[in-house]
Amino acid sequence: MQKTLKIPRHVAVIMDGNGRWAKKRLMPRTFGHRAGMNAMIAMARKAKSMGVQYLTVYALSTENFSRPREELEGLFDLIRRYFTKNVKELYAEGAAVRVIGDIAALPPDVQALIEEGVKNSPADARFFVVLALNYGARAEITRAVNWAISRSQQLSEDDVSRLLYTSDMPDPDLIIRTGGELRLSNFLLWQAAYSELYFTDVLFPDFDDAQFERAIEAYSGRDRRFGRV
Ligand code: FPP
Repeated sequence: MQKTLKIPRHVAVIMDGNGRWAKKRLMPRTFGHRAGMNAMIAMARKAKSMGVQYLTVYALSTENFSRPREELEGLFDLIRRYFTKNVKELYAEGAAVRVIGDIAALPPDVQALIEEGVKNSPADARFFVVLALNYGARAEITRAVNWAISRSQQLSEDDVSRLLYTSDMPDPDLIIRTGGELRLSNFLLWQAAYSELYFTDVLFPDFDDAQFERAIEAYSGRDRRFGRV
């Protein structure tokens, strides 16, 4: 008998393990990121087919900016490729791309591609791939606090939520982290207040459809009480 799964509206993923995946194959880290991008594209398709509405992926953290220039350039090239080629497939499937994070620190041509990619997304999209690029939750919250200070304004919790990059998105129901580490690493700290967490040792390039389904099944079996009894 087919099980009926409870599908999370918003899944957020810390795509960890690309570097180790490449190292095991005696290849440069960039090779792992390229495999990671392919895994991410496949994961978006799978998430959409299962009825997820928002898939947020941690593609570049504020802390990742201190990585060697060569690795960063490799990541920028992947972003370029994503926004020149892959987004078109996304649009054709009726999906949109969004970005959270401070993209002003990215190379100007990358910023322009991102802005264009977000702007050209279908207006009636029902599935959103949200790329976290130069994203850090502490920087995001600090930005909101500074906005309030500059206007001498007190903030409610709802006000803070509205001042975050994710203002028009639901909080993640499920956060997945691949690669074996058991932490959030500055990802969606405010929004994760009641998220279910799922950790797996699988390195992100190996995180395939079956792995994604396994995470959704685990979520489906959780009892979400949001602090109530
Ligand atoms: C962490 O693995 C992963 C990243 C820093 C980058 C993730 C990026 C992608 C999957 C490609 C994203 C797509 C676009 C459009 C840019 P790690 O390198 O820290 O792995 P390690 O812990 O094994 O060293």
